[in-house]
Amino acid sequence: MSRYTITAALPYTNGPVHIGHLAGVYVPADIYARYLRLKGNDVAFVCGSDEHGVPITLKAKKEGVTPQQVVDKYHEIIKSSFSEFGITFDNYSRTSAKIHHDTASEFFKELNEKNEFIEEVSEQLYDEEANQFLADRFVVGTCPKCGFEESYGDQCENCGTSHNATDLINPKSAITGNVPTTKETKHWFLPLDKYETWLREWIVEGHKHDWKTNVLGQVKSWLDDGLRPRAVTRDLDWGIPVPAEGVEGKVLYVWFDAPIGYISSTKEWAAEKGKDWEPYWKDKDTKLIHFIGKDNIVFHCIIFPAMLKAEGSYILPENVPANEFLNLEGNKISTSRNWAVWLHEYLEDFPDKQDVLRYALTANAPETKDNDFTWKDFQTRNNSELVAIFGNFINRVVVLTNKYYDGIVPVPNEYSDVDLETLEKVKQFPSSISNSVERYRFREAMMELMNLARLGNKYLADEEPWKVIKADEERVKTVMYVALQIATALSVLSEPFLPFTSNKLKEILNVHSSAVENSWKDVSDKTDLLLSNHQIGKAELLFAKIEDKDIQIQLDRLEATKVANEQEKKTVEPQKETIEFDDFTKLDIRIGTILEAEKVPKTKKLLKLKVDVGIDTRTIVSGIAESFKPEEIIGQRVSVLLNLAPRTLRGVESQGMILMTDTTDGKLAFIEPEKDVENGESVS
Ligand code: 2FM
Ligand code: ZN
Repeated sequence: MSRYTITAALPYTNGPVHIGHLAGVYVPADIYARYLRLKGNDVAFVCGSDEHGVPITLKAKKEGVTPQQVVDKYHEIIKSSFSEFGITFDNYSRTSAKIHHDTASEFFKELNEKNEFIEEVSEQLYDEEANQFLADRFVVGTCPKCGFEESYGDQCENCGTSHNATDLINPKSAITGNVPTTKETKHWFLPLDKYETWLREWIVEGHKHDWKTNVLGQVKSWLDDGLRPRAVTRDLDWGIPVPAEGVEGKVLYVWFDAPIGYISSTKEWAAEKGKDWEPYWKDKDTKLIHFIGKDNIVFHCIIFPAMLKAEGSYILPENVPANEFLNLEGNKISTSRNWAVWLHEYLEDFPDKQDVLRYALTANAPETKDNDFTWKDFQTRNNSELVAIFGNFINRVVVLTNKYYDGIVPVPNEYSDVDLETLEKVKQFPSSISNSVERYRFREAMMELMNLARLGNKYLADEEPWKVIKADEERVKTVMYVALQIATALSVLSEPFLPFTSNKLKEILNVHSSAVENSWKDVSDKTDLLLSNHQIGKAELLFAKIEDKDIQIQLDRLEATKVANEQEKKTVEPQKETIEFDDFTKLDIRIGTILEAEKVPKTKKLLKLKVDVGIDTRTIVSGIAESFKPEEIIGQRVSVLLNLAPRTLRGVESQGMILMTDTTDGKLAFIEPEKDVENGESVS
């Protein structure tokens, strides 16, 4: 038996949770935790609400309520969604809890006393109108790494890079839309550069064979770019006050306090259970596993480990099996555009189908690449797999056992070669499923579970007890006995993946009490999982068919969201503030022609262009690659802002800007002269 501390990313409490959360983090974490418990390990599976940070404050401003009201509302919704989907956290806490404030403050103080921080006064972005500093999501601008124009101050959602707000190009306040000024302020920085060599040895060298390639790739790329000190405090009024003498109006950075939430959630759980929390975080034999989405990799593989290392008494993660993202019907899931399937809404439409969603999400889990959830696939997974394979097998076994033997497990006669082979195959399933689960390959593991149901179906189809019964009743006793063993094995091995189904099946087979319940190991060791003369219950359908009309309701709802979003987009932006003519004449806009175009490597949006602008031919990097292929735009006439200060994007200096406009279908269009004009002609 081993000790495991399993963490699942603390969700931000600024909205409910959707299928992307479930598929990326909580279902895989729950499968893993349930599996480990079934194998008899000592598991602490912890999570909680992430209640600090700018997203909460922004949501509160938008809704005209206090941040506390926002977190109180969503904490309850999120917590009950998790419990309704059978996510078996040992503890679900919240970062507004006193135990968390105390734990995070102590952690900060400890590092401060050990001189692990650099205290520095620096210029930070400031919004004069809102009268506040602009950190994290309070500011948006162009990502210095990939050119994405909607990057947040602390992280770019497009390329995942984590940066300082002052690194953004063309920053804008998310509160007023103003261009920020800067103002001096003191902050505490964690010198990440100090940990670079150690991180490289520990992760890139030490875990190159057991961590996922998407995780290793991101870590390596950050390390190759070079780490810099990161501020762990902010000038905000929502969060955990910085616990240092004479400091006011400053709080801990949300990404400093949130991962400590895993520790405080464990402490809260241990206190309730009368256990000692420390072995779960400090005993070197404990395995710490963080389940997260790919946008959280830098925080769990670089920043939090550096914090733990600086503190000195904590263990480090054994693995961080981060998933990629789940899309919905071909588009990125988005809370603000309501492009999501919300868990609480799903349960209103499909009240008893938690396992169907768990199944469809695991079958499409974004384990190695972004994946797509479609309602059609959801329906097929249910009708052609859960109903037709798993449900059908169980139903036949239970109905026939009731029909032939009044539900009493028969005494088998001599086994045929096929029977022996089948029983032997069943015994192999625990280890093949384990093998996949232990490598975090949950879709593979679940497909293997379905192969067990397929084995059962094939066995019945080949042995045809419903025909043989007329000629050889004794043979049918053996066949039904073997089939009942497969059904029982399914009830045990399905528990991590389909917990509601496993429960129902155990009730039908009447193996719910601990006296007759089998363990994971029993399935590999025993042939007699369900003994002769045991009374089973009546047949009940495990899964029901999902009709086209049920799916159409969901598709119509998404279509309505699409239409609403398009309507909203059509609202024309109000006129900007008035400028003087002199301001306008400062802009040198001219007509040019694109001579060459090529993609900037490793970016989705950027093209490197050579443009003849009459006075010279210059290089311009433009974020238009999602609207145009390089070869399509050679010879294209364009309007170019020539005297914009040069800036370097992905190592290429851009000497101007191509002016573009948005089209109704969400693409970009060039602004070109209506008649023939020489390159270099001014636009005025
Ligand atoms: O991305 C998010 O939703 C963050 N709230 C995750 C925090 S994980 C942890 F460190 F707490
Ligand atoms: Zn970026």
